[in-house]
Amino acid sequence: MIASRLPFEVIRQPSTMRAWAENLRRDGLRICVVPTMGYLHPGHLSLLRAGRARADVLIATIFVNPTQFGPNEDLAVYPRDEEGDIEKARECGVDLIFCPDVEAMYPQGYQSYVTVEELSRPLCGSARPGHFRGVATIVTKLFHITQPHIAIFGRKDYQQFAMIRQMSRDLDFGIEIVGMPIVREADGLAMSSRNAYLSAPERSAALCLYRGLKAAQARFHSGERDSLALLDAARQPIEDTELARIDYVDLRDATTLELVTSVSRPAVLAMAVFVGKTRLIDNAVLGID
Ligand code: PAF
Repeated sequence: MIASRLPFEVIRQPSTMRAWAENLRRDGLRICVVPTMGYLHPGHLSLLRAGRARADVLIATIFVNPTQFGPNEDLAVYPRDEEGDIEKARECGVDLIFCPDVEAMYPQGYQSYVTVEELSRPLCGSARPGHFRGVATIVTKLFHITQPHIAIFGRKDYQQFAMIRQMSRDLDFGIEIVGMPIVREADGLAMSSRNAYLSAPERSAALCLYRGLKAAQARFHSGERDSLALLDAARQPIEDTELARIDYVDLRDATTLELVTSVSRPAVLAMAVFVGKTRLIDNAVLGID
């Protein structure tokens, strides 16, 4: 592996980014991309460090992708800090940052989208219609522009990771898709840019997601395999929390995301919960350590 030796660059034009990537590939360098929507937190930084260790050239992308937000969602207020992000990325050893504007990615007349059929349907797919079509489309575009050998995603967005891995296989992208563990605050809250929306009482209430996961994991480790019992354990701490409202809590096969009635293979316990107006997601895989 060659240590980072490129001049640090912030690139805004897709054509410029692609020309860089083509030259780097021509020079035989291995490229890793970490796609993000910015407002980088320690979870993102863990992805960047993982990428730094796996490739010659590390590219971070920062783009708040409008096509993955529904009409009543938080696109307009999604937290942004481009200057801070650039500094953090540079400190993690990122070589190139690609941060295009919306017109560069979706010019006038844009009309092509990517859909991953089955994996996009349940969970966040049914709660946020169109969301995964937007994610699959932008990730495909970012892959074409940055030409990576390897791409790194967080497993907090478990369904997103599963869908991108499937898409990459199905469409022969030839990119290694790596999923990294969830990074949590000291008290267990999964790190998320959306945590910035939480008031102090909501921040405490948000711990109910982690409590739910822990309760279900404890039941699983004591031998419970029945989905309904495990889901009850997961839901209880959330239902007991005044500021929290369940969007979904579901137990699904960890690979296919099909519903399971009993855990005999690895299964993902996935949840989306509104805490006040903020929708948070979290998950735990049962069946493997
Ligand atoms: O996980 C995210 O931040 C986004 O969904 C992604 C993968 C960068 C696509 O916009």
